[in-house]
Amino acid sequence: MLDTAYETITVEPLTRRIGAQIGGIDLTRPLTPEQVSDVRRALLAHQVIFFRDQPISLDQHLALGRYFGTLHVHPNSPGPDGYPEILRIHSDASSKAVAGDRWHSDVSCDEIPPLGSILHLHTLPSHGGDTLFSSSYAVYESLSPGLRAYLEGLSATHDGEPTYRQRNRLRGIDDAGKKFPKASHPVVRTHPETGRRGVFVNSNFTTHIDNVPAAESEGILRLLFARFAAPEFQVRFRWEPHSIAFWDNRAVQHLAVWDYHPEVRSGYRVTINGDKPYL
Ligand code: SIN
Repeated sequence: MLDTAYETITVEPLTRRIGAQIGGIDLTRPLTPEQVSDVRRALLAHQVIFFRDQPISLDQHLALGRYFGTLHVHPNSPGPDGYPEILRIHSDASSKAVAGDRWHSDVSCDEIPPLGSILHLHTLPSHGGDTLFSSSYAVYESLSPGLRAYLEGLSATHDGEPTYRQRNRLRGIDDAGKKFPKASHPVVRTHPETGRRGVFVNSNFTTHIDNVPAAESEGILRLLFARFAAPEFQVRFRWEPHSIAFWDNRAVQHLAVWDYHPEVRSGYRVTINGDKPYL
């Protein structure tokens, strides 16, 4: 059923907790302030939103991202020539690694992690290649009051080095001497626009909870990572050529399913700068 709270777009929720499909908008054209405001409201309400049939160019992709903030430059993967803020997402028969095949919030190892990401895929495999999104609000809200209170006193370290070095090694990229981002963030963060709380640790970047014994950190992280894997907190997006997904990294984690090798899946991501997480 359509959510009728919008003037310029149609918004069809895909589950009760997370995800909506947006219609009635052409992202290849400049947007009006009213359209931008509706898209932002839909993102905040549904955490990840999806668009179909939007064959945007790289310049239109950048322009779309800039309606929502300044753009992020990826610390490990430089963009194509002349497009430093574009992240190419590509895998084919020769790939030994793909981006995002473990649960994560994009570049959470940055001191100031991204607000959101806009992914446009133009080439899809004949089957598979879906992306899963899981709600950090739903994970938080599923915990007992006692566990929430305990977690609210904690911070955790997010380190880009293990993930990026492994990916570089599999891709044959020499990253000797390269420095990778590393930051400590609260385990529970308050969303700066919705005021809702969500769990902010992920299996791709979070190495440990700060200032607790290693066994305790491992146990707590294992429990929280397992909650993100619960299907009832998720939406699964089936791509078509020129679909776009726009997700809020402050409120969701995602995982790209690599089940289509040796076929090609290809597109581009623009990532919007965020702000420092706080409880
Ligand atoms: C990513 O941005 O983590 C990749 C997502 C995807 O390829 O579906």
